[in-house]
Amino acid sequence: MSEQVLIGRQGGVLTLTLNRPDKKNALTRPMYQALGAAIDAAEFDDEVRCILIQAEGDIFTAGNDIADFAAVNAGSAEVEAAMVNNPLLAALGRATTPIVAAVQGRAVGIGVTMLLHCDLVFVAEDALLSTPFVNLALTPEAASSLLMTARLGHVRAFSMFVLGEAVGGRDAAAWGLANAAVPPGELRARARAAAEAVASRPPSAVAATKRLMRDAGAIAARMALEGEHFLAQLHTAEAKEAFAAFAEKRPPDFTKLRG
Ligand code: COA
Repeated sequence: MSEQVLIGRQGGVLTLTLNRPDKKNALTRPMYQALGAAIDAAEFDDEVRCILIQAEGDIFTAGNDIADFAAVNAGSAEVEAAMVNNPLLAALGRATTPIVAAVQGRAVGIGVTMLLHCDLVFVAEDALLSTPFVNLALTPEAASSLLMTARLGHVRAFSMFVLGEAVGGRDAAAWGLANAAVPPGELRARARAAAEAVASRPPSAVAATKRLMRDAGAIAARMALEGEHFLAQLHTAEAKEAFAAFAEKRPPDFTKLRG
């Protein structure tokens, strides 16, 4: 099996490339581990001045691997423990290294909410960003109930969370989810140039600026609160139906379930 996250460094830019294209870069526990460890390690590596997150294949990521959600619903304590202590979310929440993202195709769920922790975001013009947590009987994570709402306002955030409505690349830029929507063929080069520009700036000034711009305590507190709701939802009958529907490639039917 090839590495699901490719890690490389060119100059001051550490590049993390999601590399599970056959499964639309759906994020597995080893991928969270690799991403979280790399972001944490960058905090102590003077050579790393900026992190660039990108993805192989036609889409950025389809979000969390739904098989892992289903495993928690079926009672796996091991998968549940890993989900409660998601190393990527923890690392993103506390990172002071600047992070740039390049998003092509689709970004779903945590593929979008992780962008709220990035400092520069470039999306392809034809990209679609969605956070269909409620469609899966789940609730927002990654402090997105706080950050997305602050970024987009309540009604746009609600339509993304509860209706699962996708936002196109140009709207993502107009709404403040991304710096720019660019032609797909230019995406990687544009994001890398931005990462190199950040990497060329004085590092302690960059890190202090990022720290001042983010309330890490509030983010951690919201992640913990969201985690309680997310976990409770994972164990519900409605979640079981949503995960079964995904596995069986059919629409879910929530009509017979009680709220
Ligand atoms: N978890 C696990 N597997 C996933 C996945 C996910 N989140 N997203 C896609 N895959 C798998 C599919 O099951 C399929 O596997 P298979 O080839 O063994 O059948 C493979 O990746 C290709 O996916 P497919 O749905 O055929 O690709 P597509 O191009 O038609 O659609 C998406 C792409 C992203 C629109 C679609 O895969 C999707 O909606 N995925 C689920 C997204 C989601 O709800 N994520 C959780 C958010 S909280």
